[in-house]
Amino acid sequence: MRPFLVVGNWKMNGTRESATQLVNEILRGPELPATAEIAICPPFVYLADMARLLNGGTLILGAQNLCAEDNGPYTGEVSGSMLRDAGCRYVIVGHSERRNLYAENDALVARKFMAAQRAGLTPILCVGETLTQRQRGETHAVIMRQLMAVLDAAGIDAFDQAVVAYEPVWAIGTGKTATSAQAQEVHALVRACISAGNARIGGAIRLLYGGSVKASNAAELFQMPDINGGLVGGASLEAYEFIAICKAAI
Ligand code: 13P
Repeated sequence: MRPFLVVGNWKMNGTRESATQLVNEILRGPELPATAEIAICPPFVYLADMARLLNGGTLILGAQNLCAEDNGPYTGEVSGSMLRDAGCRYVIVGHSERRNLYAENDALVARKFMAAQRAGLTPILCVGETLTQRQRGETHAVIMRQLMAVLDAAGIDAFDQAVVAYEPVWAIGTGKTATSAQAQEVHALVRACISAGNARIGGAIRLLYGGSVKASNAAELFQMPDINGGLVGGASLEAYEFIAICKAAI
């Protein structure tokens, strides 16, 4: 099994000064566990500054989004190769905030996933159902649709260099975490789906849980058999809280 992965998604928060302070606090704080890869995903404009601070050390850099195209007349967009150039190794694709607020559909998410890999980045593909979908009993269908859209477009082999994050929309930024049993159930579904295409890849792929992960609930979530790390929003903006979550990695 590959090491656990804990990713801090800062979303659109902070200033250059607060970002610098946060990274310095993480770097100077209690030692991060060797059992996990730890990544931060700052806003685009701070990536280069953060890359300088991280200086190729153990803390890894990722981005929150990328353009599905490689270059050209796409005003305001940022390509995968630019992110690579800035020092990123990971990039989040299909975050529910992108899907819901910026109308990114499954087809576009699949194109972004493939663009990330063309640039040598590891995509973190987010999937997750809304509260209404869960209440209607549609959770499995939604997750399968979001996952299959990328599997069909990119092929199973592409998942050898990818991460999937289950982020129930109703748990994001709400303080309402999925129970470890609820999360495990969906993670098992995702792994079974990928394993059906390739058992080795399905067994090895890292599946992260995201949605109100905190130091107080990380250990319980991380001990579930199909949870291999976390995608952390709000709690990744506090150095000691984030470090405590990282320390829960198995
Ligand atoms: P919160 O941890 O703030 O709920 O956010 C989760 C998330 O969306 C991470 O990508």
